[in-house]
Amino acid sequence: MRGVLKYTAVAGVLLAFPAWTNAADIEKGKARFATLCATCHGASGAGDGPVAAAMPADQKPADLAKGEMKFAVDQVKFAELLKKGGAAVGLSPMMPPQAGLSEADVGDLYAFVQSLHGK
Ligand code: HEC
Repeated sequence: MRGVLKYTAVAGVLLAFPAWTNAADIEKGKARFATLCATCHGASGAGDGPVAAAMPADQKPADLAKGEMKFAVDQVKFAELLKKGGAAVGLSPMMPPQAGLSEADVGDLYAFVQSLHGK
């Protein structure tokens, strides 16, 4: 009986705090963003990375801090965009696929991008 109570208590805590079991890390996301995304998006996501300057005006990365996503409106869509790239989801082909990212990487990147517009 004691064992069951203990188990129930632990399960209850895990259910109450799902973030504990799968916490996205904004700082890790920021570091990943700096290496994988900032060349185009700029370190703060404003769309002012050095590579963006050479892109056609209608295909440049938007300011992510505005939080106006055309496609990546939630984490599922965000993951799809990162894995398949812009062209596959009807966005600019300048947004490259990053097929090798783990779920944890995607979660951290999503948390960082959300934090840019205060979420
Ligand atoms: C080679 C340049 C380049 C790199 C590298 C790049 N992006 Fe992009 N990204 C773009 C461009 C260009 C767009 C604009 C696409 C459009 O609006 O059609 C874009 C759009 C986006 C959007 C907005 C999508 C929407 O729904 O409006 C997000 C979010 C995004 N990128 C995240 C990332 C993340 C995270 C990384 C790094 C893992 C990354 N990008 C790497 C060029 C790049």
